[in-house]
Amino acid sequence: HHCFSKSEDGFLYCEKLKVQEIMEAVEKRPFYLYSKDQITRNFEAYMNALEGLDYIIGYAIKANNNLKILEHLRGLGCGAVLVSGNELKLALHAGFDPTKCVFNGNGKLLEDLVLAAEKGVFVNVDSEFDLENIVTAARIAGKRVPVLLRINPDVDPQVHPYVATGNKNSKFGIRNEKLQWFLDAAKSHPNELKLVGAHCHLGSTITKVDIFRDAALLMVNYIDEIRAQGFEISYLNIGGGLGIDYHHTGAVLPTPMDLINTVRELVLSRGLNLIIEPGRSLIANTCCLVNRITGVKTNGTKNFIVIDGSMAELIRPSLYGAYQHIELVSPPAPDTEVSTFDVVGPVCESADFLGKDRELPTPSKGAGLVVHDAGAYCMSMASTYNLKMRPPEYWVEDGSIVKIRHEETFEDHLRFYEGL
Ligand code: LLP
Repeated sequence: HHCFSKSEDGFLYCEKLKVQEIMEAVEKRPFYLYSKDQITRNFEAYMNALEGLDYIIGYAIKANNNLKILEHLRGLGCGAVLVSGNELKLALHAGFDPTKCVFNGNGKLLEDLVLAAEKGVFVNVDSEFDLENIVTAARIAGKRVPVLLRINPDVDPQVHPYVATGNKNSKFGIRNEKLQWFLDAAKSHPNELKLVGAHCHLGSTITKVDIFRDAALLMVNYIDEIRAQGFEISYLNIGGGLGIDYHHTGAVLPTPMDLINTVRELVLSRGLNLIIEPGRSLIANTCCLVNRITGVKTNGTKNFIVIDGSMAELIRPSLYGAYQHIELVSPPAPDTEVSTFDVVGPVCESADFLGKDRELPTPSKGAGLVVHDAGAYCMSMASTYNLKMRPPEYWVEDGSIVKIRHEETFEDHLRFYEGL
């Protein structure tokens, strides 16, 4: 079952708690609400799918870096995928095993690479200059760095261009025609680099597993080529990118099991250890952004529901035109009219919308409204635009509501000027 569901009485629940009642208890406007058990279930779906393989599940912490969530996933056996020095520090702080961590990125900084080298995390090589920096970091740290080559398999992920990464003109990774240069470089730096595998990441919100299969096929061919030159490499990292059912239409989307099954035989045939880097599919559906309705208005042909949440807390609709499902948390009064609304925030720009043209019962002031699937790339991309402070986070744990991150406050903001 899924953690957020509407019961027959028309109320939205998070596990066994009424969201309406959680709102009364929390009194914050807005807030992120998670289900801890849903996080566990999502992780277990990957573990079950991977049974029989050697694997590392590296959670892409850019999707959501809440420390309590990180500690929970780490406790379940998860690794971490990092794209900055601070993410690496946070993962270490959360107790992740460095040998289950991967450091990614097209612009990794030398100082961050030095930390990665010291701790022994896997580093994905992204470019010629990146390789040079990794070599320098290895010398500074006095460590041999386990590296994977991030190769662009040039498979079209069929997603929004802003979240496609594995195509030939992408800023990420290396083109296959340059592979030999990187192999020669690895050979000439045996004390600094230990080439252990190959990596690719095609993009995000992928809803067809064939895409992963096509990429994995190309990748094992590269691995064969690399092995033929005497490298004993054992890791295939196929990145993250599995999409989720943002539309809540009940459409059957590929599961972690479907994803792993399309690459399982290939991985086994080469005796590889499979690394995956899921972000969204682990965390997105575990959370709602819970908002209160400030008012309803009409302009021209448009009806608007104005809520306290905004693009500052949830930017995906504004940035990618992304659809995230919206619902009221309690049933409408009898005979309430259903109309078409744009759901918007209070931020001073027209890009500030959470949903367009949504059929909803005309709500009353103060009613609760949730934006679903807010676990991934919402809080982690939140800003303080318009001096909105980042909201608190809560999860439902053992049937109770527990705060897992404090709200940011106006006083926090003033602290940046202290002593100047
Ligand atoms: N590995 C690498 C190298 C990545 O670049 C990403 C995401 C992931 C793993 C995790 O991908 P996921 O499983 O979450 O799809 N802000 C956008 C998504 C950007 C994804 C960037 N890379 C959004 O809100 O849709």
